[in-house]
Amino acid sequence: MQTRLLGKHGPAVSALGLGCMGMSDFYGVRDDAESIATIHHALDRGLTLLDTADMYGPYTNEELVGRAIAGRRDEVFLATKFGIVRDPNDPSVRGVSGRPEYVRASCEGSLRRLGVDHIDLYYQHRVDPSVPVEETVGAMADLVAAGKVRYLGLSEASGATLERAATVHPIAALQVEYSLWTRDPAQNGMLDACRRLGVALVAYSPLGRGFLTGALRSPADFDADDYRRHSPRFQGENFARNLALVDKVKALADEKGCTPAQLALAWVLAQGEDVIAIPGTKRRDRLDDNLGALDVRLSAQELAAIDAVFPPEAVAGPRYPEAMMKLVNA
Ligand SMILES: NC(=O)c1ccc[n+]([C@@H]2O[C@H](COP(=O)([O-])OP(=O)(O)OC[C@H]3O[C@@H](n4cnc5c(N)ncnc54)[C@H](OP(=O)(O)O)[C@@H]3O)[C@@H](O)[C@H]2O)c1
Repeated sequence: MQTRLLGKHGPAVSALGLGCMGMSDFYGVRDDAESIATIHHALDRGLTLLDTADMYGPYTNEELVGRAIAGRRDEVFLATKFGIVRDPNDPSVRGVSGRPEYVRASCEGSLRRLGVDHIDLYYQHRVDPSVPVEETVGAMADLVAAGKVRYLGLSEASGATLERAATVHPIAALQVEYSLWTRDPAQNGMLDACRRLGVALVAYSPLGRGFLTGALRSPADFDADDYRRHSPRFQGENFARNLALVDKVKALADEKGCTPAQLALAWVLAQGEDVIAIPGTKRRDRLDDNLGALDVRLSAQELAAIDAVFPPEAVAGPRYPEAMMKLVNA
């Protein structure tokens, strides 16, 4: 398995991780047996980085991951997150909390659901604008000192917030959406800040929530409760315009002799040795497809050809509905 360093001084993790969110939430019907088989298959193939969060489900995704890794803890580099608070009466309604007492309580909950005595990488999922990040990271650093957490990360934090956080405790990873259709981190200073501070960039939704694989052909492909039905890029005219872009990527993948998913992931991995991607799937066959990206090397000409058919500004629609975009610390 190819590895990359999580931050300038490591540790080494698999260059591709496995995003577990869709196994329990947001992307249609659950299949826990196949999801657990997928996690086992990932570990069998040498993938180490598993990504979950307390808000996926909420809570059920951590429980699922906990069941899957029972007896195999040593093979896993386990990442989870706190900080997005879902309304129990309506899980689509969200708040954020970075209060120190919330950080401590969240960590205890995650350890219990995951069935582990430590978390390898603990992320603040969204920055809480009402709590100075130094206070939140201070509470996270206490968890490191207590041996409950090994490394710290932030998600969707701006470069400036990352700089402030790193004054309190080293930050190993910044997790942000980064893919062919979400180029923001390279344009808004996040990637630069990561490089200045020696922080790894962990790219989430590297397959554009499945869209960049070319497998989604119509909004009718989604189950009734699929989150993507409400996401601007998957709606109406935007869907059609984005599909035209993906079809051009598919043509390049055909020329290269790989799948569109592999091309999309190889593109992310080509953005730098400090970039790690965590594609999500609940199916073993798709995991194998995605791991094939590790064998796809893109030359400068091929990267330019991809840019020519899918330039950064070409995507139609914002990446989140308005209410969720407001939680992003830009
Ligand atoms: N920090 C954050 O705020 C944040 C936000 C979103 C996600 N994340 C993390 O990032 C991980 C990955 O992102 P994501 O799951 O949103 O999006 P993604 O990895 O871009 O795409 C996942 C979707 O693509 C499908 N898929 C995967 N491989 C495929 C293949 N080879 N061919 C065709 N379809 C394929 C999956 O369906 P099947 O499952 O049916 O294969 C799923 O619907 C998540 O699991 C989560 O851990 C973090």
